[in-house]
Amino acid sequence: MKFEQYADFARTQWNLAMSGSEHFSLDKCTDREKVSFWDEKSSSYDLGIGADFRRVNAAMERLEKFGAFGPNAIALDIGSGTGAYALALSAKCGTVYALDSSPGMQKVLAEKAAARRIKNIIPVLADWQTVRKGELPGAFDIVLSSLNTGISDYDSLVKMNTLSRNVCCYIAPSGTSFHSSRADFQKIIFGRELHIAGGNDIIHAFNIIYGLGMRPELTYAPCEWSLAQSPEDALYAVCRDFSRYTEISSDLRAELKAYILSHLNEEGLFVQRQTSTVGIMVWSPKSCAL
Ligand SMILES: C[S@@+](CC[C@H](N)C(=O)[O-])C[C@H]1O[C@@H](n2cnc3c(N)ncnc32)[C@H](O)[C@@H]1O
Repeated sequence: MKFEQYADFARTQWNLAMSGSEHFSLDKCTDREKVSFWDEKSSSYDLGIGADFRRVNAAMERLEKFGAFGPNAIALDIGSGTGAYALALSAKCGTVYALDSSPGMQKVLAEKAAARRIKNIIPVLADWQTVRKGELPGAFDIVLSSLNTGISDYDSLVKMNTLSRNVCCYIAPSGTSFHSSRADFQKIIFGRELHIAGGNDIIHAFNIIYGLGMRPELTYAPCEWSLAQSPEDALYAVCRDFSRYTEISSDLRAELKAYILSHLNEEGLFVQRQTSTVGIMVWSPKSCAL
């Protein structure tokens, strides 16, 4: 294969990994239902993965080394969520545009920014998949996306390059992860564990950007969270999460409830833990060697 063909090869590999990863390919939500999903998640997001800032600090360190920051720097955070990166960027840049398709996520971010008297974060309610360049406020010095399922194919990734005049940063899961109860929930609901083919692994984005002749830097950060919930809240959350794939019948609900009740800690809470690694990729869209 010639080097010029490699980006297309990587595009196909990413599509195959997405369709082979059942937690993506079995998701039957419409775009509108996906937005509702994130709206509902917004109030508890910071109790889970949103609570671990090592990934944010690692990304800020990489961008600092890249010379990306300054009082006039304009940043775009795509899929900004509750603002883990937008809030950190706001201290290092003149203006941060926080783009997200979920009004619920934007509300949480606005409340956090107001509580910290941060005034340079501008919300942009939009879907990255469909938003056009002309609908965004010009070009950006930094274009960043973290754990955003709205960027999980070639076109939505390469779109980042077209809007950045200095640096892009893409953050995604790297390698395997451990979750204390997800496999058990899958066995109850589907009778087996869902097949994971690394659909959202950082390797796919890396291969495409590299194949397009750019020279992405890659670093890694650990990510851990632990969420203790009442049995009622835990049952609601697991039924809500898995309703994206299949209808949760009353029998399944009863089985899930029995599982949760038999796994409570001494305080009567159900604790979920996850440990994973994220890959942090930083590149200059100008460094294309082709
Ligand atoms: C897992 S959260 C990540 C939040 C934050 N970037 C972080 O790393 O903590 C994913 C976010 O991406 C947003 N999102 C998903 N698909 C999107 C799309 N197509 N356009 C814009 N935002 C999207 C969701 O609403 C959600 O806020």
